[in-house]
Amino acid sequence: MIFLSGRIPADFVDEVRQANDIVQVISEYVPLKKSGRNFVGLCPFHPEKTPSFTVSPEKQIFYCFGCHEGGDVFSFLMKREGLSFWDALTSLARRVGLEVPATPGRDGRSRWQERAYEINAAARDFFHNYLRQPAGQAGREYFFRRELTEEDLEKFYLGFAPAAWDELTRYMTKKGFREDELVRVGLAVAGKKGSCYDRFRNRVIFPITNHRGQVAGFGGRVLDDSLPKYLNSPESDIFNKGQLLYGLSLAARDIRQKDEVILVEGYMDVIRAHKHGFTNTVAPLGTALTREQVRLITRYTYNVVMAFDADTAGQAATLRGLDLLQEAGCRVRVVTVPAGKDPDEFLQKEGGEAFARLLQQAEPLLHYRIRQAGQGITPVTVEDKLKILHRVLPALVMLESEIQLSEAIYTAADLIGLTPEAVRSEVEKFLQNKRKRWIVRDNLAQTRNNRIMPDLYPTGAIGEKKKPAGQPAGGRQKAERELLTLLLNYPDYLPQTLSRLEAYPFTDPLAAKLWEELRKDTTGENLVERLVDHFRADEEILQFISRSAMTPVEEKKAPVLWRGYVERLLSEERKARLAQLLQEIKAAEQAGNWEKMQELLLQYRTLLQQERSGEN
Ligand code: UTP
Ligand code: MN
Repeated sequence: MIFLSGRIPADFVDEVRQANDIVQVISEYVPLKKSGRNFVGLCPFHPEKTPSFTVSPEKQIFYCFGCHEGGDVFSFLMKREGLSFWDALTSLARRVGLEVPATPGRDGRSRWQERAYEINAAARDFFHNYLRQPAGQAGREYFFRRELTEEDLEKFYLGFAPAAWDELTRYMTKKGFREDELVRVGLAVAGKKGSCYDRFRNRVIFPITNHRGQVAGFGGRVLDDSLPKYLNSPESDIFNKGQLLYGLSLAARDIRQKDEVILVEGYMDVIRAHKHGFTNTVAPLGTALTREQVRLITRYTYNVVMAFDADTAGQAATLRGLDLLQEAGCRVRVVTVPAGKDPDEFLQKEGGEAFARLLQQAEPLLHYRIRQAGQGITPVTVEDKLKILHRVLPALVMLESEIQLSEAIYTAADLIGLTPEAVRSEVEKFLQNKRKRWIVRDNLAQTRNNRIMPDLYPTGAIGEKKKPAGQPAGGRQKAERELLTLLLNYPDYLPQTLSRLEAYPFTDPLAAKLWEELRKDTTGENLVERLVDHFRADEEILQFISRSAMTPVEEKKAPVLWRGYVERLLSEERKARLAQLLQEIKAAEQAGNWEKMQELLLQYRTLLQQERSGEN
């Protein structure tokens, strides 16, 4: 898969790479400690207590021995910040003050996305400025009535959509945006007779940005109690509710700094929380958390406090979202805002200190779930108790580690009034069933992109470690990969490898792809960089390269190992060929084709001789 097309100048990529030392860049995200020739730290891509995240200053590569993420400085930024290659390149160029060459040819989709963000930014400005106009007075008054200040209006870029049919559309077309573009981003709606009108009318506007601060869409709230209360931008390639978190671009730094995120449910909750100094607060857009949002959150922290509105507390969909967080390894705590309020109202009435106390009392998700599960049941008999337990078992068994699970078993036992042994045995039973189910489903289909196991179980089924990319099935495949690992460490061996394995067919698909690329340049210059560039979009090969680069082969042993691998592969190939010849000979015999049989037998004998004497 060629990712780096000729449109992004390779020289420039090299220049940026050279100017950005991987250790320095990663240190800005992860504290690193020197360990031998490498640096190690706690992996930013999965939760861990002992460092398995390794950075090589020599090879300018990182690799995590725990979750197997790997790559170069660009890959790091792409993964960590969720950037495209181009954006990572741009960001690193800026970091060292390099000028980015003129926009390369991008595909139509990303060009449209850029345009869409531009349109939204212009609309945001229009709505925002409208607040200052006489006709926007209603919007200003609305916000002031809700005790927001000028500052809040600025910080969140709040706005007002005029009570008219096409003011925005007219303004935008005058600015050079076309009507069909406005319709496509969802700011206008196509009417009959080819005309179109504004989607947002007579509503206060909450611009919704993505984590990079680009305006992805809008939420518009009515000024009174009419319905629908909020109108949002329609789903599009830039506005995807399940992938956005309101307030994230403003909160990101504080979430990282405080190593905790506060999740609330509504736009106003976010704004009020920030106003009271809880600047690490974000909200999903009126839907339960998705895997994408969870992934987004874990880029910044693994500690989550969810502040529920009293009326949504315990709703199945919301809880499912919190389970996703827990499955991703987050420590999730929950608090229900008392007296039927939402965080916005609570903060307004009770103030920041009271809210801080509330957050301090947040209880672990499991406790919360058990209490929820127990609602409506007065556990008198063992059956009642088991019923409660069974409701929380699915969440319980998702716990990452045995320690967490044990602890949870004691908690559950205590809260429900069962013995820990009883709870443990129910857990075991549940796990047995679940494993069985998973195995069956796994066999159905398990391709890279169509994985039955959700992506967020980085460890596969419970307790089973995900197989690293570098573990081939059979002995021959293993030897192929090991040879390539050696070559990645000692490119000097490339020419002689090529001369011995010129015609050798690699059987392991990953090895075959990598070899195809390796053999193109036997000088071995900047080998790892070149390969990472080439395979940037192929996660599996990227992992393999990074891991290989991190797995030093002792120099003394290299010649012996190299010889061993090459002989082994040639011998494996001969054996395979011999088996095949045998088949062909049998077939020829059956067909009575003696001439063909003679010829095949001769080949067979020669090959067998070679195999016995172990020569080429
Ligand atoms: P809420 O009904 O709790 O609204 O919906 P809120 O945020 O407290 O708003 P105020 O205080 O009445 O102004 C929570 C979130 O659900 C989404 C919005 O994202 C909202 O912030 N929502 C709600 C919609 O998208 N559409 C709706 O009609 C209602
Ligand atoms: Mn509210």
